[in-house]
Amino acid sequence: MTRTLFVTTALPYANAAFHIGHMMEYIQADIWVRFQRMCGTKVYFVGADDAHGAPIMIAAEAAGITPREFVTEIADGRQQYLDGFNISFDNWHSTDSAENTELAQSIYLALKAAGLINVREVEQFFDPVKGMFLPDRYIKGTCPKCGAVDQYGDSCEVCSAVYAPTDLVEPYSALSGAKPELRTSEHFFFRLSDPRCVEFLQDWTQNGKLQPEVANKVREWFVRDENGEGGLSDWDISRDAPYFGIEIPDAPGKYFYVWLDAPIGYLASLVNLFGKLGQDAEAFLADPEVEQIHFIGKDIIYFHTLFWPAMLHFSGRKVPSNVYVHGFITVSEEKMSKSRGTGISPLRYLELGLNSDWLRYYIAAKLNSHVEDVDFTGEDFVTRVNSDLIGKYVNIASRVSGFLSKRFGGRLRADLGSDGAELLANLQSRVPVIAELYEAREFGKALREIMALADQVNFYIEAHKPWELAKAEDSETELHQACSTGIEAFRVLTVLLSPVLPKVAADVAAFLQVPEFLWADATTLLGEHTIGRYQHLMQRVDADQVDKLFEAAPAVTEVEPAAVKAIPGGEPVAEQISIDEFSAVDLRVARIVAAAAVPGSSKLLQLTVDVGEDQPRNIFSGIAAEYDPQELVGRLTVVVANLAPRTMRFGVSEAMVLAAAHHDAKAEPGIFLLEPDSGSTPGMRVR
Ligand code: MSP
Ligand code: ZN
Repeated sequence: MTRTLFVTTALPYANAAFHIGHMMEYIQADIWVRFQRMCGTKVYFVGADDAHGAPIMIAAEAAGITPREFVTEIADGRQQYLDGFNISFDNWHSTDSAENTELAQSIYLALKAAGLINVREVEQFFDPVKGMFLPDRYIKGTCPKCGAVDQYGDSCEVCSAVYAPTDLVEPYSALSGAKPELRTSEHFFFRLSDPRCVEFLQDWTQNGKLQPEVANKVREWFVRDENGEGGLSDWDISRDAPYFGIEIPDAPGKYFYVWLDAPIGYLASLVNLFGKLGQDAEAFLADPEVEQIHFIGKDIIYFHTLFWPAMLHFSGRKVPSNVYVHGFITVSEEKMSKSRGTGISPLRYLELGLNSDWLRYYIAAKLNSHVEDVDFTGEDFVTRVNSDLIGKYVNIASRVSGFLSKRFGGRLRADLGSDGAELLANLQSRVPVIAELYEAREFGKALREIMALADQVNFYIEAHKPWELAKAEDSETELHQACSTGIEAFRVLTVLLSPVLPKVAADVAAFLQVPEFLWADATTLLGEHTIGRYQHLMQRVDADQVDKLFEAAPAVTEVEPAAVKAIPGGEPVAEQISIDEFSAVDLRVARIVAAAAVPGSSKLLQLTVDVGEDQPRNIFSGIAAEYDPQELVGRLTVVVANLAPRTMRFGVSEAMVLAAAHHDAKAEPGIFLLEPDSGSTPGMRVR
């Protein structure tokens, strides 16, 4: 029977771009999902933005846009990361959606009907200038313990004391600076302390499915001391207007606290996907055969092992099958700081042309099934990728494929000789073990196993020396056997590495002229089969490139407590210049009087432009993919008129036309020629 999985990663706050920590979570989940799919399992793998809450509302206000505009901008930036690292989500949605509103409200009403919601008066600081209740993080004041000024409402960064905002000496609002007033308001609580909840959660968290360290951690949260203190407490799930969130039914001015609707966003994304597929999401979500798995980081265990299963169970829904918790990634042993960013940016990684499969491999090699932190260091990255991926794996193909195509027309031989057959039998005997390691998220161990197999293959090649056989006489058969064995082995290793290296795997499948790999391919052989010509599969990592990654640490990726500016057009705005520096660039209106394709170039068009001078100018412009020469003739545009002429293979380019493009053509394709308003004439200066 085929398995069916519903897999999610935590929903990132829509207040900042992705950092390397997010990518680590997505890579971990994606490797597992790809492995499952290769085994024939049907997987629905979804994510979404976590869009609601006070920090986002406040950040949007600071940016002068609505919260909805703010989160849309962040959402628009997501795809370039997901595509860039080949994260194979089936859907990406948002908690700020119709699906989520409906689900959150109906789950809440069901919890209320079950008698698990109650209402209590809460005394809280209110900002009279902003007209809103202040979350703890937005109240500052003097630490009641050590007297340090400007400390947050929940804890002191100087002496580490933890306290309530009402304990602060001379509190003030971090938003307006105003002195906050204490006001009472009604809050809604989810009664986690209800014996029904406690009993259900004791069982759900302690019945053996969670990672042992996670179960232990959770166990502490149930413990009451001899005074009856501690244990699970009721959860405040409401916030007063103004709030960016979902309205609570029958409670005007009350909204769900962001953490109530956030995990419901998992279901909303699935419902959204099933809507597009024309399938019944509710039946799927209720199906006991469907395994529901959430990948999350160690900081959000409480929400996912207590609140979330209880919300689902007591609203009459199916509970998650498991929650897979990972540790945190640090960069050069430094904890990622919210204010200083992360040392390395995933987008910068891609921009520098570093191969996404390298990072996937490196992270996978460091992951296991436990909640352990992982460290990224540049040197280690270079060594690991170069010695394993290039030295052990890619090398195999590059050592044997040349002889195969030159001497045997790319034809493999079915009879591999006894050594070859033995080697392959040996490799294939390890396939079930490696499958178990993938299933158990022991990726580091799986890769060590695979690299040990690659060592065996290299040992075989050393022993058979195809480069000597190629020179010897009468060694045709042996040469053919050695090279065929090398390729068969390389293919088996590639199948085993496919979940981690999707890009390389696709290239290898093309090179071998076979369909996309399935896990079962690891235990078959190609036999009589003709392969294509070997194309270089993967570069060595160049340490300089990695140094650049570190140099270019993003200035700031997240600002507390508000957020970050999106990166416009995929690239940060360039360094400031003076008006004089700008004036040095002479921009002129120009009319395109002729346009033609350039024979021998798929990128360039040859333009003849009138800049108001005696003679028109000749320009080669890289817009052939976007514009038909005919449609350009007669159009006005803008050129840089004082750019030094450039001699190209096709002639001299005497100016440059201006066009807009996103930095990452994959994220937002297209090149858009500039066009001045009608009425302007060739030669007019643009300033
Ligand atoms: N919005 C909440 C999650 C809601 S889930 C219903 C949130 N967002 S987050 O953007 O702060 O984090 C998203 C995920 O990234 C979490 O699983 C978190 O643990 C993970 N990580 C954040 N920093 C990380 C590292 N430095 N390393 C690895 N994972 C990290 O929490
Ligand atoms: Zn203090």
